[in-house]
Amino acid sequence: NWDSKSIIEDQVAKIREQVGDAQVICGLSGGVDSAVAAALVHKAIGDQLTCVFVDHGLLRKGEVEQVKHDFVAATGIKLIAVDASEEFLSALKGVSEPEKKRKIIGEKFIRTFEQAQRQVIEEAGAQGKEVKFLVQGTLYPDVVESGGGDGASNIKSHHNVGGLPDDLKFELIEPLRTLFKDEVRAIGTELGLPEEIVWRQPFPGPGLGIRIVGEITQERLDVLREADAIAREELTKAGLDRDIWQCPVVLLADVHSVGVQGDERTYGMPIVLRPVSSEDAMTADWSRVPYDVLAAISTRITNECRQINRVVLDCTSKPPATIEWE
Ligand code: XMP
Repeated sequence: NWDSKSIIEDQVAKIREQVGDAQVICGLSGGVDSAVAAALVHKAIGDQLTCVFVDHGLLRKGEVEQVKHDFVAATGIKLIAVDASEEFLSALKGVSEPEKKRKIIGEKFIRTFEQAQRQVIEEAGAQGKEVKFLVQGTLYPDVVESGGGDGASNIKSHHNVGGLPDDLKFELIEPLRTLFKDEVRAIGTELGLPEEIVWRQPFPGPGLGIRIVGEITQERLDVLREADAIAREELTKAGLDRDIWQCPVVLLADVHSVGVQGDERTYGMPIVLRPVSSEDAMTADWSRVPYDVLAAISTRITNECRQINRVVLDCTSKPPATIEWE
């Protein structure tokens, strides 16, 4: 579409001018903003850009591959992927308190990202090149929310923790700074990014970590990942993706209830479906998903996830409840 084409052209020219022949780093989260920002910068300066993707082991089914394979295949971007899932899991061992989880995930993420950045800086240095810029997928609403100050949303994009150490401070490139989400999606489409990334619904930085109420373990992650994939599949099949703002799927890991599956009495965990409609996530209403879609999700989850014997629907608006359970 004409509009996104001209925005792309403008931004490409601007980025080239800003960057010159310096090297640039961009962190990818798996979400649409960082992906589109990276693709735009790549279009402008090609291999002067290196992307860093930290896999914290808390993404949903298929999302790591989407970044490592589909996104790279679509763009040709140079990517350093760090699989830190085991480290995250061991740092989170024994932790149930939501804010503590967030803090551990956020800090560990920053440290891991920092390490990868140092590697990029060293490699560039060995070739006599200098890394000067960091790409951020800041959108216009983020700018407004943070008071419009420059650099106010450093890494806020998904981890809500303080900035980077002084020797890793870069000049920022924020090519989406004047745009709204729908414009970012149009640009992503125009740039040929995979649909799953362009149309990905909001997903919190701490990922599935704050959708397991209770301690995070590998086994619980596996169960939740499967249940979430089923819910997403059925919502997509029903054509509801664009009506629903997001649908957290939550595992109540410390709750057990009695069920009967096959001929056996079970004592399993419940899964909560939390489909919501919203404009900006500040307020939300629970989505009136058709009963037959809920039924299909419930049947499949209880059939396919052995540890789940009950599926419940969260029919609370925000406020009083938040969208996420933690
Ligand atoms: P709540 O649960 O506060 O969520 O109603 C509002 C929106 O923010 C997302 N969310 C987060 N995003 N880091 C993020 O980047 C977080 O720690 C976090 N917690 C919630 C949530 O998915 C919803 O879209």
